[in-house]
Amino acid sequence: MPHAKWFIGGRLNVSENCLDRHLGTARENKAAIIFEGEPGDVRTITYKQLHFHVCRLAHVFENMGIQAGDRIAIYMPMVPEAVIAMLACARIGAVHTVVFGGFSPEALKDRINDCKARLVITADGGWRRGKIVELKAAVDKALENTPTVHSVLVLRRCGNPVQMKEGRDIWWHEAWEGAPNQHKAKAFDSEHPLFILYTSGSTGKPKGVLHTSAGYLLGCKMSAHYVFDIKDSDLYWCTADIGWITGHSYVVYGLMSNGATMLIYEGAPNHPQPDRFWRMVDRHGVTILYTAPTAIRAFMRWGDNYVLRHRLDSLRLLGSVGEPINPEAWMWYHTMIGKKRCPIVDTWWQTETGAIMITPLPGVTPLKPGSGTQPFFGVVPKVVDDQGKEVPRGSGGKLIITKPWPSMLRTLWGDDERYKKQYWSEFAGVYFTGDGARQDKDGYFWIVGRIDDVLNVSGHRIGTAEVESALVSHSSVAEAAAVGRPDELKGQALVCFVTLKAGIEASDKLKEELRSHVAHEIGALARPDYIRFASGLPKTRSGKIMRRILKEIATGGEIKGDTSTLEDFSVVASLQSDEE
Ligand code: PRX
Repeated sequence: MPHAKWFIGGRLNVSENCLDRHLGTARENKAAIIFEGEPGDVRTITYKQLHFHVCRLAHVFENMGIQAGDRIAIYMPMVPEAVIAMLACARIGAVHTVVFGGFSPEALKDRINDCKARLVITADGGWRRGKIVELKAAVDKALENTPTVHSVLVLRRCGNPVQMKEGRDIWWHEAWEGAPNQHKAKAFDSEHPLFILYTSGSTGKPKGVLHTSAGYLLGCKMSAHYVFDIKDSDLYWCTADIGWITGHSYVVYGLMSNGATMLIYEGAPNHPQPDRFWRMVDRHGVTILYTAPTAIRAFMRWGDNYVLRHRLDSLRLLGSVGEPINPEAWMWYHTMIGKKRCPIVDTWWQTETGAIMITPLPGVTPLKPGSGTQPFFGVVPKVVDDQGKEVPRGSGGKLIITKPWPSMLRTLWGDDERYKKQYWSEFAGVYFTGDGARQDKDGYFWIVGRIDDVLNVSGHRIGTAEVESALVSHSSVAEAAAVGRPDELKGQALVCFVTLKAGIEASDKLKEELRSHVAHEIGALARPDYIRFASGLPKTRSGKIMRRILKEIATGGEIKGDTSTLEDFSVVASLQSDEE
């Protein structure tokens, strides 16, 4: 540690392990993907057909001169071609970096430049709440300043008009015209990079989490097999977008390597009505549903009537991921959706862990609502105090993982120092998750949430530092601090304290402008829920913003703990007195 390697000297091709291995077996003509677009269009793609698609795209990449190790950015709607693009990268050993379609052009540009991508794959647009999200236009904007990108491959999805730049942009359907549907996969080293996925950290810009091949594939294949109890007769639906790690591990790699049949949905859960998910469960006969607590809480709020008009009798297993699930939401999921018949697997893991780490095994582990229960095979987590000493059962502490595991991240792209510092320096020789947790008397793990400067808003990881730097990039802002406050629906809401430059007048209009500014810089998912103007921010004498105090103010609670290091208490008093 911290540079563990697995299956040294072994060679494999990850796409072959997801596709070719099923050819010539009974799975060959089985559906790999059942796709439903937001407008209601449905397509079924068998493993054999998926293999053809991936082979053809692999030829397209090779004809473009893409080589093993080159980076390819994928900025697409949730359509089968996004999966095809990922697998085609894996086939030729190119490293994909999928950027969630909700990120702004600015965020896309930063990610492309950080990993020096040569090719960008996108679509004209994607459907979301009945509207077209214009992805190609966003790419055009991002590419104004990305010297490494030579080509852009554009899928026609929505038919909206786009500008094609001569010599750079190619339509997907034109590029793969005539490409052979067979492609001999080369084997790559077990530690060959498979993908980079950017995620928020507590400082600076998003970090490029690097995953490699054999260990990663093992981690997600084995966990998908045991945690989702996948059978050939199942129709599995993970509602995550491929822009997140959940989409990588439990839509693409973990499920395809198991030969599972997957449902993929393009659009919003409440379009055209808040019963869209339940309509789809019945329409296709979904047996396993894996979704996030935020979605569950939204469904609860929309009302039981939208659920009760559907049978949901095909479901046999439910999953939860991304944030702690409150017992109330757990019970609702269990009774309203699972009809008390389906176990719930509450799976704790991270972009960095690659695969599920703490989870029940369905039908095996007795469940407790709100607990991820027990570590998965080979995972050795502990809850420790600030000195790294294990705390007694029932006490809270920091969650660490004491042994390397196959699907762990290998480094942060281009910044190994940050990798070592971020994960391996809090306690020598062990991985620090950034989460707080406790173990109960039965040894069950209860995750409290992030204890670093990372927020979890609607299951999306947002670094406070990123939001703050977006705010101060606005010409009116002198200083900003972002903190989380508990939110019934989103888990955490994003509260920002802002001091304005001299002479700038505070107004509601400016608040709105700042919220839009952050959305523009990062993406709508980071749009602050609340902005509060302040005449000053609470700081230590050395000038560090005391976020702990702001968190307490944002929550409306009392200021607890030590305030003796505060430079000027009157700042806090004035913040408290003009609460919203
Ligand atoms: O705080 C934990 C929370 O989500 C964080 C990881 O976020 P990300 O890398 O975006 O990956 C999300 C999907 C795996 C963790 O540090 N988290 C994830 N799953 C759970 C959870 N918190 C509580 N219970 C979970 N099941």
